[in-house]
Amino acid sequence: MGAILAVASSAVGLGNFLRFPGLAAKYGGGSFMIAYFVSLLLIGAPVAWAEWTMGRYGGRLGFHSSPGIFHTLLRRPWAKYLGVLGLAVPLVVSMYYMCVESWCLGYACMALSGGLDGVADFPKLFAAFTGATGDGDAVRFSPDKAGFFLIIALVINLFLLHRGISRGIEMACRVGMPLLIAIAVAILVRVLSLGTPDASKPGQNVLAALGFMWNPGELSTSLANPQLWLAAAGQVFFSLSVGMGIIITYASYLRRTDDVTLSSVTAVAANSFCEVALGGMITVPAAFLFLGAAGVAGGTFSLGFMVLPSVFTSMPAGMLFATGFFVLLFLAAVTSSISILQPVLAFLEEAFQLRRRTSIAWLAVLVIIGSSWATYFSGGLKAIDTMDFWVGNVSVFMLGTLVIVLFGWLVGIDKSWSEMHRGALLRVPGGFRLVMRYVTPLYLTTIFVLFLLREMLGWNFSLTTPRFEPKHYMTDLFGENSNPVAQLTVAFIAFVLLSCIALVAAGGRRWRNKPLPPHLRHSGLQKKHHRTTPPQ
Ligand code: ALA
Repeated sequence: MGAILAVASSAVGLGNFLRFPGLAAKYGGGSFMIAYFVSLLLIGAPVAWAEWTMGRYGGRLGFHSSPGIFHTLLRRPWAKYLGVLGLAVPLVVSMYYMCVESWCLGYACMALSGGLDGVADFPKLFAAFTGATGDGDAVRFSPDKAGFFLIIALVINLFLLHRGISRGIEMACRVGMPLLIAIAVAILVRVLSLGTPDASKPGQNVLAALGFMWNPGELSTSLANPQLWLAAAGQVFFSLSVGMGIIITYASYLRRTDDVTLSSVTAVAANSFCEVALGGMITVPAAFLFLGAAGVAGGTFSLGFMVLPSVFTSMPAGMLFATGFFVLLFLAAVTSSISILQPVLAFLEEAFQLRRRTSIAWLAVLVIIGSSWATYFSGGLKAIDTMDFWVGNVSVFMLGTLVIVLFGWLVGIDKSWSEMHRGALLRVPGGFRLVMRYVTPLYLTTIFVLFLLREMLGWNFSLTTPRFEPKHYMTDLFGENSNPVAQLTVAFIAFVLLSCIALVAAGGRRWRNKPLPPHLRHSGLQKKHHRTTPPQ
């Protein structure tokens, strides 16, 4: 239960309550659901099984981070470098995730103090609060600026990490998760009992709102849009916390025969329940009821921070629900962000034998630098957007693909499959062997190539009238329209990546001599381990 709860709390976050509703609304509801569930089955569940299995295996040999675990899995000098993304990805994601988390805290406080009441222009408020108006605009020690709340969010996260896994993280999850679900259910009941809030607009009623979210519409046109599939796959990665090195670390604290198959499915199901039945069902219908179909479609953040507050102000007892909603977002974000920080902590401890307090101090320095960067370069939210694209999308896809290729090919599907079923409470249907070996890697690679073609080259996917208009992610970096903040942010990400490589090289040197943990010294694994360990 502890492991399931910890993984589910890590998974349930801003992705569920902000990103998912934004995408579902943007891609027209029902058809996005189809792509989402296909991705959940072909990517989400298989990669999650792979990460749980690898994590538990590595943990038995005393490793808790992706570089260490990949080293034990392949026992090759280069294997540890495959895990570098398992450090760099959570590190950079934590830097900008912390910023969005601080916005949730800020909005919760604003709602509580009546600051959202009577606001006429929510997009303007959002821009002023986050500093989207210009670089440096959010960095002021004032409760109407995101920078102020970033400090509080950082202190809360570091305090929980300092209290350690069982006292800090488990407590946050045990209290946070049920509280989060209780708040979400209360808001859901309120939204679904609104009937027809504006009698002059009879079409904007609860049933029509549910229809907007669930009816697939014209499937032949909507499902032919590759962007829909890309968005659904990306959402599954982000939301399940797979491809981020997090589950690998969490599962490494399991015992040798603890179940991973059923636990993994349970965590995936819990996350999807919160995402679809709570996050999606609150936000999409609420926005539809008050703004109609045209007002619902917007970006990831606009729905949560720009549209929903106006929905709450037009609702009876709206400020109470607004406070509840943003507290819920903040709680979900905290339980996720502490998990995002965990892989780096585990690495610092196992690679350099640092004490927990020392590793937290180092991690704090890194995260403070990164999140201050994202908060300072806030003009047009450029730094956050750049980090989210290159790390939250591109690198997460790469790490997820690497994990499934390791599982099905480098380690081998037979070995991996039987390791996955050690102590299993659920026998995974045999068809998934083929899915994990062939379908998932192929599906991921196809989507990744389409993603690069679309997002980098800007191909409109038309064969008859092809157009190549590179998206701003590329033009920001090269050419006459380049943007210095985007360039600097990419350079910063590259610096983090290179530093992670250097740390893995330095720390990994000790692993060749690392003695086996006492409980394995007399097992068959000992012989195997020593035989294949490279000579000194
Ligand atoms: N899985 C986390 C979320 O959904 C990162 O926010």
